[in-house]
Amino acid sequence: MDYRYPSSIEGDDDVNLNDTEEMVDDPLCNPDKPVKVSFEEITSAAYKIRMGIKNTPCEKSHLSDLTNMSIFLKKDFLQHTGSFKERGARYAMVMLNEDERKRGVIAASLGNHAQAVCYHGYQLGIPVTVVMPLIAPIMKIQKCREYHANVVIEGNDMAEAKKIAYKMSREKSLTYINGYDHPHIIAGQGTIALEIMEQVQNIDAIVVPTGGGGLLAGVSVAVKMLNPNIKIIGVESERCASYSKAMENNGPVFTPIEGTLADGLAVPEVGFNAWETSRNHIDKMIVVKEEWIALAILRFIENEKCVVEGAGACGLAAILAGQMEEFKGKRVVLILSGGNIDTTILGRCLERGLAADGRLIKCRVTVSDRPGGILELCKLFGSIGVSIKDVIHERAWVASDVFSVEVKVVCETRDYAHSVQLRDLLNSKYKIVSFENFPDKDEFKYNCGSLLYS
Ligand SMILES: Cc1ncc(COP(=O)(O)O)c(C=O)c1O
Repeated sequence: MDYRYPSSIEGDDDVNLNDTEEMVDDPLCNPDKPVKVSFEEITSAAYKIRMGIKNTPCEKSHLSDLTNMSIFLKKDFLQHTGSFKERGARYAMVMLNEDERKRGVIAASLGNHAQAVCYHGYQLGIPVTVVMPLIAPIMKIQKCREYHANVVIEGNDMAEAKKIAYKMSREKSLTYINGYDHPHIIAGQGTIALEIMEQVQNIDAIVVPTGGGGLLAGVSVAVKMLNPNIKIIGVESERCASYSKAMENNGPVFTPIEGTLADGLAVPEVGFNAWETSRNHIDKMIVVKEEWIALAILRFIENEKCVVEGAGACGLAAILAGQMEEFKGKRVVLILSGGNIDTTILGRCLERGLAADGRLIKCRVTVSDRPGGILELCKLFGSIGVSIKDVIHERAWVASDVFSVEVKVVCETRDYAHSVQLRDLLNSKYKIVSFENFPDKDEFKYNCGSLLYS
């Protein structure tokens, strides 16, 4: 279908640009006239983008045995710019007319959508401007510049960047491409579902990471048309649960967001078109805790050799957290939607994942301050093969006798059982021992330490 901006938005003289400060809403994402994207539009998108988008693999995962589910991973982080966002971006640009192509497009994004628009704009010879907020990761800004885009770093957050981009689109007659709610974006994202349906037989459920809802909308329409029995499960972080809030509210509603490992999902309000398109097709929405996302990122690296960003790891996080127990023994597809994670964030995720997994342990032990006291403690760790990463000792603030010293140790164990062995050993040898956030045993249904180290 042809979705065009009203002519006045394209720089018509009727528009008073002074009004644009206030008129920041995108007319293609109108709450009063939401657009429902059709199955036919998705199939048409699949045909039109087939030359520019990879049909990424969807393979059975090593994590299947661990979770007692047949898990299939749709590896869309293997797209050129590292995310599924290329599908919608390519389709939205392919659908521009000659004049719009010449004038160029503009988008506001923190990362994946920006990279996708810049890359495909360059491929198609369409000038691209992206507005990225000041907080955008340097690596992603750099990538957009590598694709020869005009990169504007302005605005303190995404809301401000969006406002600026929208104003520029009017002033410079550029086509504004909303990253999750433009109908062509939704249709383009839905093409991933057509591939999945050809790649995996007898699917019971597809798990979709959800931010503004564009991916969920496209996937749900395509899947339910082809097989209404397949369950569509949306998943989001507890720190940006805007689709769950929309379900409670029976419509998109502003939801305050906090910093999250799943930064790709950090959209405070679900798109109106995305909502209208998807709302009758969603079987379940799952909200996952951050520590499970960190653990899922770790599992993907250790078990699958895949670097997946927080947003893309949310599906596995939901399974590890025991929030999909009804799918035990069933065939479940997880969409690994992106792999663009900063190296520093990845490092922190791995540490958090190890801590959540009970393999990175922090404890305090009060030992004798006489010569050899700390040595004895270190030997005890070594005696059961625990590797010490850091030791700090403290005398001034120790409450017990003056011949004692408190030793804080950060150490690595093989798995949760090994950590329990360490805890029991320390408790049997010392009177004052404490652990920081020692993980709860019940949470370790899917601990794969044994798989890795047996
Ligand atoms: C890696 C990744 N996964 C999932 C999403 C969610 O997509 P949507 O905003 O269409 O719900 C995004 C959005 O940017 C993303 O970057």
